[in-house]
Amino acid sequence: MKRSGGRLRGTVVSGRQEAAGFVSMPWVAARLALSLGAEPFPGTLNLRLEPGEPLDAWLALRASSLGVELPAGEDGFCAATLYPVMVEGEEPGVVVLPHVEGYPEDVVEVVARSSLRDRFGLRDGTTVAMSWGSAAMKDRQLDACLHAAAESTRGNGLSSYGLVGDLPDFDLAALDTSTHVFGRRLAMPLFVSSMTGGGVRSGEINRRLAEAAQATGIGMAVGSQRLMLEDPALAADFRVRRWAPDILLFADLGLVHLNYWLTRDRCLRAVEEIEADALMLYINPLHEALQARGDLDFSGLVEKLAALCDDFPYPIVVKEVGSGLSRAALLRIAGSGVAGVDVAGRGGTDWGRVEAVLAGRSPVGPLEELGVATADSLVAAVEVMPAGAVVLASGGLRNGVEVAKAVALGAGAAGMALPFLRWALESTEQVIGGVRQIERELRVAMWYAGAADVSALRGRIRAVSPRERPARRSSPTAPGV
Ligand SMILES: Cc1cc2nc3c(=O)[nH]c(=O)nc-3n(C[C@H](O)[C@H](O)[C@H](O)COP(=O)(O)O)c2cc1C
Repeated sequence: MKRSGGRLRGTVVSGRQEAAGFVSMPWVAARLALSLGAEPFPGTLNLRLEPGEPLDAWLALRASSLGVELPAGEDGFCAATLYPVMVEGEEPGVVVLPHVEGYPEDVVEVVARSSLRDRFGLRDGTTVAMSWGSAAMKDRQLDACLHAAAESTRGNGLSSYGLVGDLPDFDLAALDTSTHVFGRRLAMPLFVSSMTGGGVRSGEINRRLAEAAQATGIGMAVGSQRLMLEDPALAADFRVRRWAPDILLFADLGLVHLNYWLTRDRCLRAVEEIEADALMLYINPLHEALQARGDLDFSGLVEKLAALCDDFPYPIVVKEVGSGLSRAALLRIAGSGVAGVDVAGRGGTDWGRVEAVLAGRSPVGPLEELGVATADSLVAAVEVMPAGAVVLASGGLRNGVEVAKAVALGAGAAGMALPFLRWALESTEQVIGGVRQIERELRVAMWYAGAADVSALRGRIRAVSPRERPARRSSPTAPGV
């Protein structure tokens, strides 16, 4: 499989800075400014690459189609190739490869908007990681998702529903939030939705999420494993079983890729290499249409899905990524033999907005009205999916009362992505604190509904009149660590 992205790791060295003079030439600086979004800092950071994986990664980047050729200038300066990267997953940079005789094979020179030594406190001998291609895009998306403008302002639809109250007839201490999904016990009906893997910060984020999931007894999905299938060196980001031996774990790949490079064998590898319990296949027509170089051939996917489900030895769950599965889409998917769906509806992370943030455009546009609110998609999924299929709810869920409502509407468990990302960027403890707060809210909501356990919560929900609906969307959980 040709690599669409990867990571490059090198050690800071003081070098001859062959490219330093080159990057200050006005015509070179102007080209670099296009990549960096600002004038380049007049100097380069030299990194030495060890033989083996680091050098191989550099060769893979050079073999990719990402290099931009700069022809030799009239001022006598040589030609060069520019490779865009994300330094430490946070700072846009460009690797400049001057076409000069004898240029060392194991050194790269990186230029950025400011001094990388100052920005990251680097000294000779420090290791620096950079991502390129789709791995760099993972890092950029992570930051864009954290931007306030990246969340939908349209609500997840759950404010149209209210829990039906009752007088609890049991001891609150005996209230049981546990449930089972795909054979695994969850301490509460909650899981971390698919997010990351392959970017510079992915391994650490996944470790924190996995540690917290193990400590609190919730489930977790890893992010798309495409990069791991392309480059085994990235598999470590996704292998979270060493921190979470007991959790419900989902593998994750894109359904549309069955029309490109994805095979049954690769699906199997994605599950088995990380010892997952089930495979999530995301289907994201809106996001593919809105992103640069999206994969747009969606023809025949349901037939391919059915063929895959036919003899795949693990449960397959089809999920959206924040635009929701419509009733018509669910009707198509329902007959394919999937073990479940995750509606991942509109109301939270909005990829149209994320792409706008990435492109520096206004996030508000006519396309924002497309998509199905999480509550509507959930209600449709519960109606349409065959008995025995697991319906998971996600998309803008932000607190324990919303988890309770989703379960009352028929969800087997509820997923959240963005809140977990925010907490995981802080620490494992912050993630645990966030889960504990959701658990407290869920317990009080179940107590209010007179539901001693998760099965008793099902159906304890009603549509509320517009008069009862809150003026604003309900607030997110703040971790009480
Ligand atoms: C940073 C980030 C990365 C994501 N990457 C993936 C992915 O690789 N695969 C996937 O199926 N969904 C991915 N998603 C979508 C989420 O799994 C989820 O469906 C969506 O964000 C809606 O949930 P939320 O509103 O709680 O964030 C990602 C979401 C975020 C925030």
